[in-house]
Amino acid sequence: MTDRRILVTAALPYANGQIHIGHLVEYIQTDIWVRFQKLRGNRTVFFCADDTHGTAIMIRAREEGRTEEEVIAEMSEAHQRDFAAFGIEFDNYGSTNSPENRELCNGIWKSIREAGLVKEEDRRDLYDPEANLFLPDRFVRGTCPNCHAVNQPGDNCSKCGSTYSPPELIDPRSVISGAVPEAKMMPHALIELERLHDFLEEWSQSGKHLQPEVANNLRGQFLGDPDSEDGAKELRDWDVSRPMPYFGFEIPDFKGNGWYVWFDAPIGYMASTKQWCDRTGENFDDWWKSDDAEIHHFIGKDITYFHTLFWPGMLKTAGFSLPEKVHIHGFLRVDGEKMSKSQGTFIMASTYLNHLEPDYLRYFYASKLGPGLGDIDLNLEEFVNRVNSHLVGNIVNLASRSAKFVSGGTLCEEYPDDGGLFTAAVAKADQIAEFYEQCDFASATLEILQLADEANRFINDRAPWKLKKDPEKAEEVRQICSIVLNLFRQLAVFLQPVLPKLAEQAGELLNAPISNWDDAKTPLTGTPVSEFKHMMQRITKAQVDTMVDESVVEEPADEGSADNESPWNDGPEALEAEPMTEECTIDDFVKVDLRVARVIEAKDVPEANKLLNLTLSLGGGETRNVFAGIKAAYKPEDLVGRLVVCVANLKPRQMKFGLSEGMVCASGPGKADVFLLDVDDGAVPGQRVH
Ligand code: 2FM
Ligand code: ZN
Repeated sequence: MTDRRILVTAALPYANGQIHIGHLVEYIQTDIWVRFQKLRGNRTVFFCADDTHGTAIMIRAREEGRTEEEVIAEMSEAHQRDFAAFGIEFDNYGSTNSPENRELCNGIWKSIREAGLVKEEDRRDLYDPEANLFLPDRFVRGTCPNCHAVNQPGDNCSKCGSTYSPPELIDPRSVISGAVPEAKMMPHALIELERLHDFLEEWSQSGKHLQPEVANNLRGQFLGDPDSEDGAKELRDWDVSRPMPYFGFEIPDFKGNGWYVWFDAPIGYMASTKQWCDRTGENFDDWWKSDDAEIHHFIGKDITYFHTLFWPGMLKTAGFSLPEKVHIHGFLRVDGEKMSKSQGTFIMASTYLNHLEPDYLRYFYASKLGPGLGDIDLNLEEFVNRVNSHLVGNIVNLASRSAKFVSGGTLCEEYPDDGGLFTAAVAKADQIAEFYEQCDFASATLEILQLADEANRFINDRAPWKLKKDPEKAEEVRQICSIVLNLFRQLAVFLQPVLPKLAEQAGELLNAPISNWDDAKTPLTGTPVSEFKHMMQRITKAQVDTMVDESVVEEPADEGSADNESPWNDGPEALEAEPMTEECTIDDFVKVDLRVARVIEAKDVPEANKLLNLTLSLGGGETRNVFAGIKAAYKPEDLVGRLVVCVANLKPRQMKFGLSEGMVCASGPGKADVFLLDVDDGAVPGQRVH
């Protein structure tokens, strides 16, 4: 068995918001990986903390008339309660507002200063004259200076991923008061990242530490390619200070300024380790300065650059170990869409817990998580089906259909002939382990399910419930059940990282706790079988719907407010559903004669499911007869009189219902979601659309 020493972190949740099912993708993913490593016998520790600093907490504390410390203490408790309920087990849960973190920040900062990487310069800050504070990061929103996406936060763009400082935003606004911020020149401390370019190039492009798509993206967007025609790109200075008042640590040699929250946040990984070391007598340097320990960070793709450029740069300069791997995952979507408060899919962990068992979500996420950065979709119907058919119907069913015939007795003294099932599963153990190691939990669970299918086929064929009636077949029943219970236990071992509670129940049932991956390799013989206790029950879509209903937040102003989003933060769904077509020339475009037209008559086409028959006037008696697939979206009587845009020179086409002489322009995926293009007042029928 290996003897790796592994330190694992998950991103530190902000102290200004509750844990929701989107966060849980990462914490469940990381917890599964950690449990897997522990089960393999690797010395593994898992650290996290609350990310407490910054303006958000300041504002909230002000609003609530409390101190920041009171707010963050309450949030830390709530976060830890949620994590514990979902079986996410940390070795230490700290806070970035801890003495350990302050001390580590001081030390790392000193090293960076001594390495000559810090420069000070006056920079333009945005000041909210109504709220009387500077507006950093996410409290200013405006247009991304790089890709021009609107309504982006002040630190990095959610569309193109580029990082910048708030004053660089185009058309900035205060999220707090809505006031137009005032620009003030203030002193700032910056880290000259470009001086670490060669190191960052080597570390990020080594092929060892990052998923290939992440490494490529870093190279394309930030580092450039020294061997290409364009050459290397210059890394920009990183502004790591914020003028006070700011809830954070004051920079000792730069009074009146605090470290930007993203400077001290990752150091919080270390501070949490330090607390654990102080409690357990472990040596901090054995974990953060030793070649014998691997450091693994799990993060979402939105915070890639902080962990793959800034953080390795800080660690390198201060003489700490570099991450062995940064594991980056995609975002959660629910029923194919971005989580939405108004639709009830922005589900808080605590709301979920009121309705459903945490293990269902752990299993579902595991069955969806691959090694890449793709988003994962929580399709609610699929969720119900997977829980019922995979977990209850396939896995737990093995125990519930066999244990009762041998409860109170013992498993056979010798493992009976099972036709090679147990051995076949042992042969899969290494492959399943490799899937876990690579964070390909979807493939791991798929393999496990296939093994469960085999075991179910076996019990169905041998039907102990029938044999049970014949007293002469008692030994045969015992043999069948000894086999099935051993196959069940084997699956429980393989699934232990995902479903630790089930593994515990399997251990209790068969009086043999599961504590190591190799427990799957030898069948149990002669051990007592306890009374079968219920393990998991089926769920209904109605339960899920109730949870969604309870999560609906009506006020539009609250939509995404935890993320400071606004109604203009349009998602990528439409473009993804229908990607852009190839480029066309202006000559191509003018071939299509788009005209303003008035609907002068609109009739149903009863024989057609989707069509309305429109008569469009282009003025001067010129008309077009058009069949439009808009029946589910518009009533004929609502259309008469309105202006639309039509393709007026489309070659007429004979349809079953009549001659179609054009098209009306509309967008949307179809059925009730079709939207006719509107024409502003003042336009007249017949005008060309350019
Ligand atoms: O994006 C976030 O939620 C941050 N609070 C993550 C911090 S991770 C680490 F660097 F501390
Ligand atoms: Zn952008």
